Amino acid sequence: MAEEVRHPFLHGLSKHRGAPPTVVVIFGASGDLTARKLIPAIYNLAHDGLLPADFHLIGFGRKAIPDAEFQQIAAAAIKEFSRREPSPEVWARLAERTLYVSGGYDEKAAFDRLGARIAGLEKDSGQPLQSLFYVSTPPSVFAPILQNLGASGLAARYAGQLNQSKVIIEKPFGKDLASAQALNRELTKVFAEAQVYRIDHYLGKETVQDLLVQRFANSIFEPLWNRNFIDHVQITVAEQVGVEARAGYYEQSGCLRDMIQNHTMQLLALTAMEPPVSMDAESVRDEKVKVLKAIQPLRLDGADCDVARAQYAEGVIGGKPVKGYLQELDVSPTSATETFAALRLSINNWRWQGVPFYLRSGKHLARRVSEIAVRFKRAPGSLFADSDRSILAANTLAFQIQPDEGLSLVLNAKIPGLETRTQPVKMNFKYATTFGSNTPEAYERLVLDAMIGDGTLFIRGDETERSWQLCSPVLAHWAAQGRTGLDSYASGAWGPKSAEALLAANGHSWREP
Ligand code: BG6
Repeated sequence: MAEEVRHPFLHGLSKHRGAPPTVVVIFGASGDLTARKLIPAIYNLAHDGLLPADFHLIGFGRKAIPDAEFQQIAAAAIKEFSRREPSPEVWARLAERTLYVSGGYDEKAAFDRLGARIAGLEKDSGQPLQSLFYVSTPPSVFAPILQNLGASGLAARYAGQLNQSKVIIEKPFGKDLASAQALNRELTKVFAEAQVYRIDHYLGKETVQDLLVQRFANSIFEPLWNRNFIDHVQITVAEQVGVEARAGYYEQSGCLRDMIQNHTMQLLALTAMEPPVSMDAESVRDEKVKVLKAIQPLRLDGADCDVARAQYAEGVIGGKPVKGYLQELDVSPTSATETFAALRLSINNWRWQGVPFYLRSGKHLARRVSEIAVRFKRAPGSLFADSDRSILAANTLAFQIQPDEGLSLVLNAKIPGLETRTQPVKMNFKYATTFGSNTPEAYERLVLDAMIGDGTLFIRGDETERSWQLCSPVLAHWAAQGRTGLDSYASGAWGPKSAEALLAANGHSWREP
């Protein structure tokens, strides 16, 4: 008997993680993110049978192109960027459900055409379709898109029901506190908070989710997770790439806006928050907001300064000489944009008082590596008086976010032999060794979660505002200073001297990840 042909979108679907019939609309269909991440993510969800049986994708953009051309663009993106080897059978099914609507983002008639197309799909399928709008455009058109989603009635489809319209907003979510508040106001004129999914792709990374599992599914960490046992925490998000072809965006952004305000703050919030009462979206986000609220305002100059910023100079990466930031294409020769930022944060609550949290991120650093390193207090060394006290290492638990995903713990062990001598050793858990290396991309998880209506791994409005509240004064101070106080570092190094000084003031130093 012939093997039953299962619906390619359905096999493997867990009944608890099933999305209703859905149309995903991508605004910014010709953008880089759409090609590199969004279309491949949707393809991989199809490949793994995680899309609803009745699924449609509509690209929306200014350029007038027929459906067939958008299908070809999507096919090329999948071929180049898909995590899995594309299967002609899966793509054929997805391709016939991939459409395109052209129009201006400020053109109400274009949104009416989009609405008519969705209504047509719904009529053909004979059942209601949830609309998930993915806003992946430059932020200058966020507001007209939102207004037109409201005016055309698309935002209000199936309001209050499980399959109500939803909107994913890409970063940058504002450029300071005032613009983030303004964007939140635009959003809430049209959508209820439960319909809004502010994305931070770091939350979709497997290892970032694993941080929550490690903290709350094991009983050995939580009793130690406080000021009595932890000396300090270091969060590093280092990139080896430079600004590449993105100077147009990056010159307006810089590292604090691009990485610190969102990605590293999120890593801090997940590391430092209290255990939530459940893993639902509101409980987790309540705890993140609470811990962000406990962070003290940063001191911006003087001997106690909590911030450092720098720009990469020329240097060597991967054995090759590379340009300094000011020599990069489309960068102003007098640019004060920081390509590296580091912060020293104090969390003034019961759990963390007196435990510094250090954050750093930068481009053109020695290696691409992201990690959260939790440094425990040293054990009293007197029992091993024969050994040199200084070589007793502080225990460090490090969550390796990427690459080489895993978890390591530095312990002191006895060196075999007749004397009692100690040496730091590392216990290592590697994802790839235990689970294989083909883990889902962050965008796969996040697009699926939004389709299902699970906002746990998305950022709530008050959360983003709180994070901007901490970062905005730093940005204003740096803007007023211009290049004064802007440090530099050789490309390929681990950052500037000023970042070392932030830790040295407390007798700490950055660990080499
Ligand atoms: C993006 C930033 O949010 O994150 C980029 O805009 C950065 O500048 C990227 O390169 C890093 O993401 P990942 O997943 O490669 O660590």
